[in-house]
Formats: sequence, structure tokens, C-alpha cells
Amino acid sequence: MSSCVFQYPTQQINVAPKNGAKKVRPAELRLQAPQSARDLIQDECRSLVLSNQQLKRLMAAMEKSMEEGLATSTKKVAVKMLPTYVDSVPNGTERGDFLALDLGGTNFRVLHIRLDGTPQAEMRGKIFRVPESIMRGSGEALFDHIADCMAKFMEENGLRKDVKLPLGFTFSFPCAQQGLTKGKLISWTKGFKASGVEGSDVVTLLREACHRRKDIDIDVVALLNDTVGTLMACAFQENTCQIGVIVGTGTNACYMERMDRIPKLAGYVDEHDHTPEEMIINTEWGAFGDDGTMHFCRTKWDDQVDRESINPGQQLYEKMISGMYMGEVVRVILEDLARKNLLFCGNFEAISKAHCFPTKFVSEIDQDLIDSEQDDANFQKTYQILEDIGIETVSSSDCANVAYVCSLVSTRAAHLTAAGIAMLLNRMNKRMVTVGVDGSVYRFHPTYPKLLDEKIDELIVGDIEYQLMLSEDGSGRGAALVAAVATRIKAEKLALRKLSAIKFSSN
Ligand code: BGC
Repeated sequence: MSSCVFQYPTQQINVAPKNGAKKVRPAELRLQAPQSARDLIQDECRSLVLSNQQLKRLMAAMEKSMEEGLATSTKKVAVKMLPTYVDSVPNGTERGDFLALDLGGTNFRVLHIRLDGTPQAEMRGKIFRVPESIMRGSGEALFDHIADCMAKFMEENGLRKDVKLPLGFTFSFPCAQQGLTKGKLISWTKGFKASGVEGSDVVTLLREACHRRKDIDIDVVALLNDTVGTLMACAFQENTCQIGVIVGTGTNACYMERMDRIPKLAGYVDEHDHTPEEMIINTEWGAFGDDGTMHFCRTKWDDQVDRESINPGQQLYEKMISGMYMGEVVRVILEDLARKNLLFCGNFEAISKAHCFPTKFVSEIDQDLIDSEQDDANFQKTYQILEDIGIETVSSSDCANVAYVCSLVSTRAAHLTAAGIAMLLNRMNKRMVTVGVDGSVYRFHPTYPKLLDEKIDELIVGDIEYQLMLSEDGSGRGAALVAAVATRIKAEKLALRKLSAIKFSSN
């Protein structure tokens, strides 16, 4: 590995005044001792640090957006607040055999789940890759691929194709549901762009794909978002769970909302003529800010990542937080700093390659920062990552500065998520709420869970109590649970109807 001595930039640097400090004029700047790269980088990156005041402003704006979403299903709003038609959480008695399908990222999973009334569900499953050509090809090819994977799984696991197991379909994209088994995709997110699916009912598309191949038939009893699966999987173990959050490839949250605060569902009764008191709302908070409301905390780097993405102008909150984008935000900052000669001796070519810095590097470098602080390990991993990217002039201060940028971006992501969760907790205003969380960023980033927890604590008001709970496979187990709850409630209501019919006829 080559190294170089850091050269202080010769061009004029505009140093923004620190809080309350006098603006430094160029003449004075020349008289001062040269600032270290870290100082200059700190100045450049100041906009990445969000104060509690900014986070509170964000919370207020987000709640306003959510209220707009709850009010209408016809007007175009940023935060869609989609009714899920899930109004009960598991009561622990759910039993039976279920199939679960899970589509939400680069992998697709098929699972066979046996619930026996204990938290330890028996589960076997298989992961299939969804190649980019299928993610961005035709909708028909995508659903044929899903049906194909399902048929293979059933074959390999000796599941009879003529016996239709109740199926829960976790489809982790914004869907306007018309009931528990029907939902139109509003728009693709997370790099998907299969044609002909937006505006269509995804359960029908799945059924049609099964009919095309003739050898399998399905009984979809529940269509759900991964956040709902997460909430349900946690609620099975902890009945105070009322919020489900995903911070993975994408980000989103769902929560139990009171029916009287969902104007767009006014007058709703379910197929058993019953109006529930609450319903889980899939917020689709990833799209928060798409109407410009987040301008006060966005940076030019966020704008660049958005501009160069597959869906510019959409999912702006998600693009500041989730795993699909966090690495890319760091990369564009590093490129900018290298172009300004503040990193890598000004060698910016290698770091200029889009997507060369995935989010897992952010986690690894943040871990390296912790290790280096603890035992002077000297950023070995960071060196290696930067060298593998092809950057030839990496100094030890470069490594420290890259780690600094990574920690700023991941901390900001945790704080933005905390603002969302704290806002929901304050709005729900219940004494104790468990928040089920899942997703690769939450699972694998070394400090994200702690940063999230600490910031939520600072932002909640009153004497609300909460706890974060890692969800165990919400998309799989959660799907089976939603399917099981739906099946149980249907059976209970049928039994009740029969009973009252008997009573009526014997009177
Ligand atoms: C989707 C959500 C999903 C989230 C997490 C977002 O891009 O719009 O529906 O819950 O990713 O997977």
C-alpha cells in the first residue's frame, strides 16, 4: 500500500462560521496556521449532524404528512398510510401448517411453517435469488419466477401440490390493499422495476402465474408488508408490540392506529359486519419528504444520490437511512472530499465509481473505528477496503477521516429513524409499547441499535415507556402468523354465526 503526506489544499477553502463565531475572512485565514484535514472535513460535513431541534421539526413535519395520508386515499400524498386490514395480533393459540412467500429484496424465500401454539415455530425454507434481469424485466417473468421457485420448494420438500396450504404473501412494497387478500402495487421501490405490475393486484398476478404452469394452486389468505410481519412475529412473544420497523435494504414502519383517527376508513365494517377499534397502518414512511418537507435537513450529497438513483424524487427519507443507499451516500461524500484534495491526496478516480462502496463497508469501518479506539488496531480493515476499491494513496489519517464520515452518515441514519419511531410513540401515547425491529442495518451495524435507542429516549415526551425488540424472521414467521390469525378469526366467526343460527331456530 502506498502512502502519502497530506498536502494542505492550496485553493481557497470557505470555512463556514461555527456557532456564534465570526466569519473568517480570506486574509485572516491566510495568517492562521493551516487547519488539519480533519478540521476541514468537519466543516464540510457539518450538515450531516442533526440537532434535536431539527429532529423535532422533522417529527412534526412527519406527523403532519401522516395525517394527510390518513385523511385520503385519492389525493397524491407523500406518506401513504396504507390500511392493512390486520386488526388483531396473535393470541398464542395459532396452530397449523402454512406456506409463506417473502419478496422484498434481491432474495425471494419460500417457507413451510408449522405453528403449534409455542413461540418456536417449526420452519423450513429456501432462498432463491432474484436476478437483476428479473427485477427489471416484465411482471409476468417475475411472477413466473416466483411460481417456479414455489413449485421447486414443494417438490423438494414432499409437499403435495394438490393440497392447498393457507398462504401468507409478504410483499414488501407499497400496496393499496382492498382487503386482506387483495392489493395493488402503487410503485416499486428498492431497485425493482418489473413492468406491468404497478396498478395491478399482486395476488391476482401470483395466482395467474400458478395457473399458467398448471401444476400448483394456491390459497392466499393474507397479503402483508414486511413491517406487519415483524410486528406480528414480535407480538406473538410480547403482547405490547404495537410498532413494526424495518431498517434493511429499505426502511418502513407500521403501527396500530385507532380507527377514529383514520378518516379515509370512516364507516368501515369487515366482512363479518364488525368495526374494529384499531387497525395496523403501513405508513410507507420511506417516501416521507417526497413533497419537499425534508429540505431543511437534506444535503447536496443526498440530492446527488437521489438524482442518480433508479427512482429520482421518490423515497427520500429511505435514501438517507436504508442499506440500499447508506454506502452510496458515504461514497459521494468521499468522492467530493477527494476532489477537494481533502482525502487520498486528491486521487478521486477509484472512489468515483458509483456503488463501489456498499453499506456493509460502512458497518465494517464503523466496527474498525471502535476496535481502533479500543486497542490501537490502526484501521487495518479500513485500509484493506479502500485498497480493494482501488484507491492507491491511502494514509492513516485518510482511514480515520473515512471512518469519521461513515460514523456521521450511520449516526444520522439512526437519528432519523429514531425521530420516526419517537413520533409514533408520542402519537400513540400508550403507557408501554414494544417496537419490533428487523433488517440488515439494524442487525449488522455495530452501533446503530444503541444510537437508535438513545435518541428515541431523548425525543419521546411524557411518561411513555418503550423497548426495542429484535424480530425473529418477521417476513417468514410473521406471514404465517397473519395467515393463522386470519384463519382463526374466520373460523371463530363462522362458529359464532352457526351458534346464533341454531339459537335463532330453536327459539
Ligand atoms: C418499501 C416498504 C418496505 C420497506 C422495507 C420500502 O422500500 O416501500 O414497503 O416495508 O422498503 O423492506
